[in-house]
Amino acid sequence: MLEELKQKNREWAASKTQVDPDFFKRLVAQQSPEYLWIGCSDSRVPANEIVGLDPGELFVHRNVANLAPPQDANYLSVLQYAVDVIKVKHIIVVGHYGCGGVRAAIESSDHGLIDHWLSPIRNLAREHRHDLEALDHEHQVDRLCELNVIRQARNVSSNPFVTSAWKRGQTLAVHGWVYSIENGLVTDLGVHIHNADEAEALFANPADCD
Ligand code: CO
Repeated sequence: MLEELKQKNREWAASKTQVDPDFFKRLVAQQSPEYLWIGCSDSRVPANEIVGLDPGELFVHRNVANLAPPQDANYLSVLQYAVDVIKVKHIIVVGHYGCGGVRAAIESSDHGLIDHWLSPIRNLAREHRHDLEALDHEHQVDRLCELNVIRQARNVSSNPFVTSAWKRGQTLAVHGWVYSIENGLVTDLGVHIHNADEAEALFANPADCD
């Protein structure tokens, strides 16, 4: 099984250098991706592949249910490096319909440790219970996937690393997408935050609280 993976790796590396002999040499010198992707760990949502980007073009952070929790050291480290060092121009929070993490958050059964991780989604579902109750279970999950992306985009846009970058005049925008495993397409949720004023407007008039 693992032999097969190593063989595939050799083939992949060879195919890259066949098209572009300096491909890896350039990557060793530096990475300067313009995008930070915050997505779900789900194996069906491969970040680079979905948007057709090569190694070196996308800085990636993935966790269960694409969360951006304000106190999570892993996420914060990635965010600071992306904003302060790499100076990405876009941060894209990418959820996906049918997300198992989102589904687990609204189920009554116990899942162990992951229930702690998913508690922000459970709270979000409580905030929106009136809207969600009107939907059948699968649509509840999908709507909550969207609401979760919007909430995480808000988390990112209120993060001090991000607000400090805006204060310095750095070009940086935060976006929210949802990916469909069924057809491979991304839906833009219309969340685009380019500066502190737009972030404030989103908090004053939160799109996920209507
Ligand atoms: Co997921």
